[in-house]
Amino acid sequence: MSASRIDVGNRLDRRGASPSREATPSARDFVLEVSDFSVHYGVDANMVRAVHDVTLNVRRATVLGVAGESGSGKSTLVYALTRLLRPPGVISGGRAILNVSSDDDPARVTPVNLTTASERELRRVRWSHVSIVLQSALSALNPVRRIGREFDEVLRTHRRAMSRRERRRRAEELLALVGLEPDRLNRFPHELSGGQRQRVMIALALALDPELVVMDEPTTALDVVTQREIITELAELRARFGFAMIFITHDLSLLVELADEIVVMYAGTIVERASAGELYAAPRHPYTLGLLESFPPLHGERRELTGIAGSPPDLAVESVGCSFAPRCPFTMDRCRAETPPLAPIGETGRSVACWLHATPSPVPVPAALSRRWTAPVGPTAPGVTSR
Ligand SMILES: Nc1ncnc2c1ncn2[C@@H]1O[C@H](COP(=O)(O)OP(=O)(O)OP(=O)(O)O)[C@@H](O)[C@H]1O
Ligand code: SF4
Ligand SMILES: [Mg+2]
Repeated sequence: MSASRIDVGNRLDRRGASPSREATPSARDFVLEVSDFSVHYGVDANMVRAVHDVTLNVRRATVLGVAGESGSGKSTLVYALTRLLRPPGVISGGRAILNVSSDDDPARVTPVNLTTASERELRRVRWSHVSIVLQSALSALNPVRRIGREFDEVLRTHRRAMSRRERRRRAEELLALVGLEPDRLNRFPHELSGGQRQRVMIALALALDPELVVMDEPTTALDVVTQREIITELAELRARFGFAMIFITHDLSLLVELADEIVVMYAGTIVERASAGELYAAPRHPYTLGLLESFPPLHGERRELTGIAGSPPDLAVESVGCSFAPRCPFTMDRCRAETPPLAPIGETGRSVACWLHATPSPVPVPAALSRRWTAPVGPTAPGVTSR
């Protein structure tokens, strides 16, 4: 792997980076720090508040899962964070800092403000330090270009010292990482299956050994077996190369297997944040509970699949109070009048945006939101068990 920057030793150096003058302590711990981040589409009466006051950190070499129904703002959040958002989308507040390791000296970490970075700075960090796998692999790949050219272009642009032969060898290595034969480089996207295309996208995302890989529903369009295979491969690749990952999906049960920490989004905001095991074993927000009751459980006690009644709010209409109130089985008067902040509860480092958990509590917390459903579970992949 002489031409490759992906090797475990290199990655371990990055993870074990010693203090640098430029780095703050958190910059070494977190590859991405996002605070009070907001995004809207359009202006005036038609404005859609797609993401509102999101604060989150992604710890190095860990997986942050993002869950939520369709339209909750998941894609908008990561498109805006990576500055791939197209008009009429606008970042309307907050900031996002990518803590970039130096190529020459992995011990040096330099913060890059993605919200204000110039196009030149963005070109420097995209692919090399942060890469993204888009929701639809078919539309992300150029239909009139063979797969090999996609790899060649990325490597030629960012690794100028590599010869043509080295680029080809590197592309073959990357395909092998995701279980594809080298001859796939000669194919056009439409000649590959959905799973193969998605694997190509994952291989491309890893081409330059990024510190952070963003996956926007990479497996949603695939059958369950292929979905399982890809999730297992992703978990193995992550464990091997040590990149951090933001993984977006509707399927909270799937995230529990893969993620270290999960944020649950509803109507553009984070309503619950917890370790994957805690979130699954003891959901505390009524929406998280509803999401868990929408998918078959992985472990422990069986839960009835009831789903969530109603539909998400229209984000073009400014609402007062808790945005989940019209669908929540526990709504109180206060919920319709005041918006609950995302606040820490308990001692497990979790945060919840729900008045039921306010201190002092206005009412006893309902049993479904105070009990523990199962023993805490952690990520199980690699070697993911089937549901
Ligand atoms: N170009 C656009 N113009 C106006 N509104 C938009 C645009 N793109 C997205 N939205 C709105 O922003 C909100 C968030 O959309 P987003 O695509 O981020 O949701 P999502 O959580 O990724 O959904 P899904 O799970 O279906 O992919 C939705 O209400 C959507 O209608
Ligand atoms: S704040 Fe009220 S409406 Fe919102 S989730 Fe909590 S109980 Fe339900
Ligand atoms: Mg989306």
